[in-house]
Amino acid sequence: MAGSIYKKPILFAIVVTFTVLSGSIVMMLLPMMSDSMHPKLSTLKPYTPLQLAGRDVYQENGCFYCHTQTVRPLKAEVMRYGEYSKAGEFAYDQPFLWGSRRIGPDIAREGGKYNDDWHYKHFNDPRAMFADSNMPAYGWLKDYTLDPQGMEKRMKALSFPCTPADLQALAGKTKLDALVAYMQTLGSAVPRKAEAAMIAQGEKNPLAGNADAISDGRKLFETNCSACHGINAKGGIGPNLENNEWLHARSDETFFSIIANGTTAGQELEGGKKTKGGMPSWHETLDKKKIWSLVSYIRSLKGK
Ligand code: HEC
Ligand code: HEC
Repeated sequence: MAGSIYKKPILFAIVVTFTVLSGSIVMMLLPMMSDSMHPKLSTLKPYTPLQLAGRDVYQENGCFYCHTQTVRPLKAEVMRYGEYSKAGEFAYDQPFLWGSRRIGPDIAREGGKYNDDWHYKHFNDPRAMFADSNMPAYGWLKDYTLDPQGMEKRMKALSFPCTPADLQALAGKTKLDALVAYMQTLGSAVPRKAEAAMIAQGEKNPLAGNADAISDGRKLFETNCSACHGINAKGGIGPNLENNEWLHARSDETFFSIIANGTTAGQELEGGKKTKGGMPSWHETLDKKKIWSLVSYIRSLKGK
């Protein structure tokens, strides 16, 4: 009896089909209908027309050939790029743009890392920011304006909310504007790392005036900061640090924490000013000694 079903090909085929099908339904189809298979972070927002247009530009230009948009849960990656990617971050990405090759860095946590000016300057000429960059320049994207009607259809097709005001905001905007807006959304559903308390309150710079620290600080400044603050800190996208009386009136501790934690828009600073935002945080890439060396270097510029 046991071997007999193998001698009946039609019955065998029916039994096999039924078994495989019921397995597939239980293991694949039913779970696909449950909400837990479609996670979505509560902080995740659908794209605005401008951001969606930027996402299209990203796809059109094959940025994913060189960039990934997913941080794996490995220590080295989290140290370099920030919090690892969550499944619930990609609910509105159809298709997702994770990519598989990193000729350039992962940009899953790009949003808010730099300000818009930085991105315009970088897309216009990546070599102006990183001398050895092999990223192509994308400044020409500013010659292409967006098509609000086309975007309205795209938004409807994806059933993203889209108000007339959102569409009006597209008027006169170029593909470059859209791409920059898209860059600022990347990873923004996951809060950025909390501030790092690397130093005690009122701690003074142990390397103040130290000649070696000043020369280390100069080198660190050239590799990490000159792209925004200019050569010799004379200013550019970020403020001139060389002759900033107000800056030099601040405590070492304030100075340290601006460099360690970066700035988000609208933070109150001493002297009643508010930050524009867009200064990246450095506590993940530079250790305490390096940040103090930078403080010593910048202080050494005073009055030069
Ligand atoms: C040939 C490979 C290549 C292509 C194509 C490419 N990039 Fe890059 N990208 C790089 C490299 C290498 C870097 C690192 C050096 C630099 O910043 O220029 C980089 C850096 C970046 C950065 C800065 C990352 C950071 O946090 O410092 C952003 C943002 C970026 N690319 C966006 C894009 C976008 C958007 C596109 C498509 C329009 C694109 N890239 C296409 C190679 C590429
Ligand atoms: C992506 C551009 C960018 C980079 C890179 C950058 N900064 Fe800044 N930085 C800014 C901006 C913009 C401000 C102004 C604060 C604001 O409005 O958010 C600023 C402010 C500062 C301030 C406070 C100045 C003031 O008057 O308030 C210090 C100090 C500073 N940066 C140091 C550094 C150091 C040191 C580095 C390198 C480790 C660095 N920055 C890298 C953009 C940048």
